[in-house]
Amino acid sequence: MDFLEPLSSLSPLLYVPLLAGSLCLLFNYLIYSRRVAEWRKSKIPFLEPSFLIGHKYFWSVGSNSAVVPIDRIYRENKDKDLVAFFIATMPVVLVRSPALIKQIFVKNFHEAFTTGFAASKNDKILQHVLTQSTDKSVWKTDRSALSPMFTKSRLSGERFAKIRNQIVRMWAHIEEARLQGEPIDTKQIAENFIQDGTASSFFGLEVNSYEEEGEFRRLNESIIRPGWGRLLSAFSLMQFQGVPALNPLKFITQNHIESLKSLIQKQMVQRSQAAGENKNDFIDFLIRLKEQDQNHKADSETDVTNEMIGLGFTLLLGGHGGLSVDTLASFTMHLLSLHPEYQERIRQEVEEVMKSHNTTDFTYEVVRDLHFLDQCLHETVRLFPSTIAITRICTEDFTVPGTDYTFKKGERIIIDPYSVHRDPEYFENPDKFDPDRFSPKNRDRKVIDAFIGFGKGPRKCPGFNIGFLMASTLIGSLVHKYEVRPRSHTKQMNAYDFHPQSFAIVHKDRILVDVIPREVAAY
Ligand code: HEM
Repeated sequence: MDFLEPLSSLSPLLYVPLLAGSLCLLFNYLIYSRRVAEWRKSKIPFLEPSFLIGHKYFWSVGSNSAVVPIDRIYRENKDKDLVAFFIATMPVVLVRSPALIKQIFVKNFHEAFTTGFAASKNDKILQHVLTQSTDKSVWKTDRSALSPMFTKSRLSGERFAKIRNQIVRMWAHIEEARLQGEPIDTKQIAENFIQDGTASSFFGLEVNSYEEEGEFRRLNESIIRPGWGRLLSAFSLMQFQGVPALNPLKFITQNHIESLKSLIQKQMVQRSQAAGENKNDFIDFLIRLKEQDQNHKADSETDVTNEMIGLGFTLLLGGHGGLSVDTLASFTMHLLSLHPEYQERIRQEVEEVMKSHNTTDFTYEVVRDLHFLDQCLHETVRLFPSTIAITRICTEDFTVPGTDYTFKKGERIIIDPYSVHRDPEYFENPDKFDPDRFSPKNRDRKVIDAFIGFGKGPRKCPGFNIGFLMASTLIGSLVHKYEVRPRSHTKQMNAYDFHPQSFAIVHKDRILVDVIPREVAAY
């Protein structure tokens, strides 16, 4: 046949990629046309996509955070409870209304949904990372086993002392910068404080990131700053879950696994040798886990099981690549620098609470009782939630009760906290930083339902309490000792200021503030 003639002159070596490319195109086309037909049939409103390149708003991803196009779509579809579209080749359904979010994420979750960032079924380590686990019984056992780790009061005593130590380091760093006339980089301070605090209070590691990076920090850094290559891998994995050819693509790589494994092993050996030292942290938890497990299947050489590594990643990553508490703390510093009136309220609260506990120190009990500061943190999560999109996958064809919407098996549902939190229908004057929205008096059903910064339902964030405790220690002590002022050019930022190369909402540049010392009693 004439039209095949040009192919006959190609080297056979080119057939394979050509064939693979054509199959890929065909596969994509089938997904595309089938999904569009299904949406049409099941009355899910959708935005007309272009084959292979998806919705046009996402063409700017690369220069902007993905939250920008999602937010535009959210705002332009005010009249709808949900709207479907394609992100490049990936079909998604954005659920807009809090009532529908509640149905899918809370009421009907166990009937027909699982997490959207799913590990491969056969991955023996990643199935133990809570955020990625799709095996219900593994997830349930792990989540309940880890629950003591997420209890705020477990972070008191010696473990809290380790977090509190970060205050002194932070002040030393701030003083050094201040005396040289330098501004304070809130992102750097938050990362050092939170990551060093996590290393010492959970993993028993002494890390001082102001002086040297260390193994723990290097591991963290390599996960939280993924770069385009790993972001694309994660995107492909999300879209083609379960396709065995993609198994080698991993957001958490073999190097990460080896590195955490050796770190846990060293800590467990060291702890076991220091008999009698019970620190109540993650390492003690693992030692108990090992003792309790009669069928302990540890690798005989290293004695660290897949389960232990998975649970380790769960704590290391928190909900979102280890960034949630750092970003919360740096955005709170940014917002407070613009609102001296709230800094003053925090100061007064710190003084009053210290007095009521008869101390001038930043103790666990003092931090625990800083309720107005807790409102400020909630309000920061509202304006700058750490996650761009929280996702679920439909595990079987499912019609949402009381609606005409039928999701097909494999449908990806997303919710976008940033957009819901800035919707004037749920939060009056939504771009304004107003911590009193979260006062006990104002925290009504409407606010509770529309606040999705920690997710919703059975897979809701279990760690926000301890995250808030760490962030409160940082912010409370900083604002107590210093007046925090914005750099002259700083204004409240929005979605266009976020980093394009991140799954999380992080500012694309440094967030700088100036600090002026106040007279306070020595801690
Ligand atoms: C305080 C700031 C934090 C924020 C804003 C935050 C936010 C979130 C969000 C949005 C989710 C997804 C929930 C869903 O899918 O419905 C999540 C899940 C999760 N977070 Fe957090 N998080 C924070 C701190 C932490 C910390 C400090 C830890 C642990 C040390 C943690 C551990 C987890 C885990 C394990 C999950 C997965 C839960 C599951 O799938 O069962 N988070 N987080």
